[in-house]
Amino acid sequence: MSAIYGPLAMTILVRSLVLAFALVLSVPACNAWSSVESGPAAAPARKVKVDRASLPVLELTDAELSRFKQGDALFEAVVRESDGLGPLYVRDACSACHVDDGRGPGLVTKMAPRQGVQVELEKLLPFGTTERPYAAAGAKTPLLAPQDSRLVVTHRLPPAVFGRGYLEAIADQDIERLAERAAARSGSARGRLSRLKDGTIGRFGVKARISTLESFVVDALSSDMGLSSPAQPEEPPGPEGLRDDHKLGVDFSAEQVALLRDYLQGLAIPQREPSTGLGPALFAEVGCADCHEPELRTRADYPVRALAGVSAVVYTDLLLHDMGEALSDGQHEEGAKPREFRTAPLMGLRFLPSLLHDGSAKTVHEAILAHGAADSEGRDAARAFLALSSARQAELVSFVETL
Ligand code: HEC
Ligand code: HEC
Repeated sequence: MSAIYGPLAMTILVRSLVLAFALVLSVPACNAWSSVESGPAAAPARKVKVDRASLPVLELTDAELSRFKQGDALFEAVVRESDGLGPLYVRDACSACHVDDGRGPGLVTKMAPRQGVQVELEKLLPFGTTERPYAAAGAKTPLLAPQDSRLVVTHRLPPAVFGRGYLEAIADQDIERLAERAAARSGSARGRLSRLKDGTIGRFGVKARISTLESFVVDALSSDMGLSSPAQPEEPPGPEGLRDDHKLGVDFSAEQVALLRDYLQGLAIPQREPSTGLGPALFAEVGCADCHEPELRTRADYPVRALAGVSAVVYTDLLLHDMGEALSDGQHEEGAKPREFRTAPLMGLRFLPSLLHDGSAKTVHEAILAHGAADSEGRDAARAFLALSSARQAELVSFVETL
């Protein structure tokens, strides 16, 4: 086992206890929202709500749960130079950017040529479009955005990682069906598949540039943390031309990559309270559901049995949508253009400190308004939302907040 496990024993123990506690609480109602009575017997009972984002899917087998916990420890682990950190990196732990499996506080700074600049991308940004602000293992020169008026610099906030096993499990045919439906629609909402060069459908990343969680782990290890693995044995190029760090060979083993994948696959969608009001009907009526497809079936042959052949309440069509110039980040990724983004899955929004790919919306209301630019596919839905009475707007917003 890697040295990474040693100093982590305590963290693992504490997290396992927390997990066990949460599971015990959630057993009777099969629900992490279960309430417990607390306080001395004579005092009036106080209801305590248990609501956490980082829980495993309840039906995982014991063997899956054991791998989930090992992957959880790796996800939390702060890597050091002896683990292969560097030469350049953005943060030293997955959890630094996905705290409690959510969004941030760590983020990524992206660079792109300004609109109309004709210089080749490789000339402007020879080491890629992502800042890597920290150097380790003998490297001295971080990769920062050059002072160049031809470049635009934007921030990309991490999406949450919970519930992503369900996104991976959705059958290709279902996404293809949604793309056909979107093409035939008459309103502003369209949407298209992110078909990758290898023929698979991109599902992960804000521009749906990667199709599986395992490839995403490999990519995140390399580009965010400067950690190589068997599928990505070389460190990404940097200004000093350093192609290795202080650890000989690859930094993360295939088994460690698989544990991180199993952890991501096993993370539950945060619990939702059953909705009683008009929220779901309004959500469909104004056209949010055109893109934020509430429910999709998963493949019957998905390797995690608990996620196979079930209805997944994901609130996304996994398609790319043109959200207009105001939201553009200037990035071309796989087939996606600067203004195109994957429909954000609406899950556990209460755990996210800010919304949209750049965190520019602080509330659901602001996020909806950001859909409404004249050149955005979301404009019809945003307009229909604004045409509702303020009471109904509030009802729709509070429904989305519980998702
Ligand atoms: C420096 C911050 C940072 C670190 C460290 C980081 N991530 Fe991320 N993560 C991001 C950002 C930003 C995105 C969006 C990337 C994109 O759009 O391509 C992302 C996206 C993801 C996604 C896709 C989620 C979705 O909805 O599509 C997964 C899965 C993920 N990260 C897992 C990991 C794992 C596992 C690690 C550790 C090996 C990790 N991340 C480390 C910032 C980070
Ligand atoms: C044309 C497709 C489309 C329609 C219609 C649409 N959305 Fe979105 N929605 C998106 C896309 C794409 C994103 C991601 C944009 C980004 O990250 O910049 C998004 C992001 C969001 C977010 C932010 C989620 C997060 O994790 O940051 C919320 C909240 C949201 N939409 C709610 C709504 C509501 C409510 C409606 C109806 C009024 C709606 N959307 C209609 C495509 C759509």
